Amino acid sequence: MRIKLTLNSKQQELDLNGNETLLEVIRDHLKLTGTKSSCDEAECGSCTVIINGRSALSCITMACDCDGASVETIEGLSSGDELHPIQQAFLDKGAVQCGFCTPGMIMSSKALLDNNPKPSHEEIKRSLDGNLCRCACYQKIFEAVDTAAKKMA
Ligand code: FES
Repeated sequence: MRIKLTLNSKQQELDLNGNETLLEVIRDHLKLTGTKSSCDEAECGSCTVIINGRSALSCITMACDCDGASVETIEGLSSGDELHPIQQAFLDKGAVQCGFCTPGMIMSSKALLDNNPKPSHEEIKRSLDGNLCRCACYQKIFEAVDTAAKKMA
């Protein structure tokens, strides 16, 4: 089957066999490897992307269900050499250790700030509770999101 979607503001037409997850399409067909593949069962959040303005786990989203959707991945955030304020805040606050969780954390954070530009500390924590960081950088990650929110306000 053939679907059309908007990925990082670009129209894409994709031929699918019907069984691919969105994660497989993003990483294997489109070669955008910023979105991470880890647990593959909706447990860790490393595959988080934004679909139609809401964070979503691409490992359990069927690509065929994304016909007509607008999908954002970590690759769509920077503009040229300029990082998105959330990316910059993660760097400035040292909220990245191994970095494996970072794209998913940043996409969940972007979905939060796009919908709630002034989140409380509790709202930041709650919005990231599906994103696991095995390096346990949570405190710095929460601080980075708070800093980005203030910069973007
Ligand atoms: Fe290593 Fe989060 S920085 S998993």
